[in-house]
Amino acid sequence: MNVSVTIDGASGTGKSVLGVALAEKMQGTFYSTGAIYRRLALLALERGCDVADSVSQVLMNNEEDALLLKEERVGHKASELAAIAEVREQALMIQRKEITHFLERSHVVMDGRDAGSVIWPQATHKFFLTADVLVCAQRRAEELGLRVEDVLAKMKLRDKRDREREVAPLVVPDGAIVLDTTLHSKNEVLDQVYSFIYLP
Ligand code: C5P
Repeated sequence: MNVSVTIDGASGTGKSVLGVALAEKMQGTFYSTGAIYRRLALLALERGCDVADSVSQVLMNNEEDALLLKEERVGHKASELAAIAEVREQALMIQRKEITHFLERSHVVMDGRDAGSVIWPQATHKFFLTADVLVCAQRRAEELGLRVEDVLAKMKLRDKRDREREVAPLVVPDGAIVLDTTLHSKNEVLDQVYSFIYLP
């Protein structure tokens, strides 16, 4: 049976970097549960689409630029849209369908805010990453080539919204192992997480 791993946490805690590396080490698939919100956000920002009405239609368009999707303005808009119950409802159906599809073929590592609490609570392994907010902002600024001061305030706002929203807020999922990544390199976190993984 294939293994499913969820990695949740606030922005900049290192979820996606860890998720990609872990999936590679496990020879599995990495699945970003936030991608759906970012793609919706980009379309809303650039084309003014009414996303709440038609998540699946909006998602038919698969041609977004990966670098554009990473921009903080897109992450910010994504967190606005991700707080809308109707959007989450439709996103959840799509995420579960895609995860099921991948899991039939390989191990799956997914990252997000509610991956282990709502989307895939039956995951074989669940992790929740934390880190000092300044370090998170430094990592994000480095990734995006921006100044830390410019990233920090926006990031705090986004994390506050993700934690305080009514639907599927950012919480530590039941049974998740909590890891503080502040003082650890990417490889240290990867080794630590991998030591918990049991591959049948
Ligand atoms: O993880 P990423 O930065 O790509 O997520 C962008 C935004 O999408 C988050 O700030 C959050 O509001 C939303 N998101 C979510 N639930 C997830 C993944 C992402 O609400 N599982």
